[in-house]
Amino acid sequence: MSGPNTDFDPVEVAALQPEEVESARDEALAAVAAARDLAELKQVRIDHTGDRSPLALANREIGALPPQARKDAGQRVGQARGAVSKALGERQAVLEAEHEERMLVEETVDVTLPTDRRRRGGRHPITLQSELIADIFVAMGWEIAEGPVVEAEWLNFDALNLGPDHPARTMQDTFWTEPAERHVVLRTQTSPVQARTMLTRTPPIYVACPGRVFRTDEYDATHSPMFHQVEGLVVDEGITMAHLKGSLDHLAAQLFGEGIDTRFRPSYFPFTEPSAEVDVRCFVCRGVDSDACRTCRGEGWIEWGGCGVVNPRVLVACGVDPERYAGFAFGMGIDRSFMFRHSLEDLRPLFEGDVRFSSAFGTEI
Ligand code: DAH
Repeated sequence: MSGPNTDFDPVEVAALQPEEVESARDEALAAVAAARDLAELKQVRIDHTGDRSPLALANREIGALPPQARKDAGQRVGQARGAVSKALGERQAVLEAEHEERMLVEETVDVTLPTDRRRRGGRHPITLQSELIADIFVAMGWEIAEGPVVEAEWLNFDALNLGPDHPARTMQDTFWTEPAERHVVLRTQTSPVQARTMLTRTPPIYVACPGRVFRTDEYDATHSPMFHQVEGLVVDEGITMAHLKGSLDHLAAQLFGEGIDTRFRPSYFPFTEPSAEVDVRCFVCRGVDSDACRTCRGEGWIEWGGCGVVNPRVLVACGVDPERYAGFAFGMGIDRSFMFRHSLEDLRPLFEGDVRFSSAFGTEI
């Protein structure tokens, strides 16, 4: 029986010689340090710690050594492998941090950069005009009221003192819905919102109502079967025509410019008594040398709408006590106001949906 091979010298195994181990370690460390990114580091890990790497081969040789030689060689290889794996770990952390930082920079999206690949849409000019008008009233402390465009005949006409045989009914060419016995119309004016408001609320009432209205008008440069009005209604104690005039002057100045005021011409509406047509001062010539003015055609004034003191019969029909309360009301065309404000001669582009027209006026968001 032979004894243990005490004479065995581990240096005889080439892979375990200290210089070999050191150089394998140094090569590995140099490669780790030289790795410029995570992919390169992955390759370094395979080359220098994988199964076929010099240090792994050396590690395997240890097992073949006699026990007394294993300790030394084991320590040497173990330290070398430890140093390499520590360096790998540290380099990995550095490269990961760099990668993350680079991604943050490269993938940053500047949400403030202007993009013009797609044309920006615009809101419809009449929507903007309606909102502008609503804002003027809200700034005065009024509320905005709304009503349906498909309206009861009674609210569109009867409640406003336009009885079934009233001649003014035929002046507003009405779209009737079928069956006629239901007595439902497309509202011909925003005035039914007055009735709705008085029927559901108690004074004081200060409301404005912008909205769509319908009449069987021919479609031409100044008429459309669908157009827009804004209605105003105030019901309170001690209301007079002077409050009406002041409110309309304020609206005119806000819409068309400081100093633009209104004038009243006597007129007739069944729901107001007295009634007036309201004209607004031409904002182009302002009434000076009007003869040459194309906007007002020499008038100095532009027809704007109708108005008056609410007829007590309407107050009664809508449940308001005329002994205690008085009111004023007015209604005017929003499309007309828009045409006037922008010197448009033809209102049809307002209804034809060409985005080039809308965006010229409506790019405000
Ligand atoms: N509703 C009327 C129209 O469409 C306009 C109008 C006139 C409204 C006088 C009013 C008013 O509130 O008081 O012709």
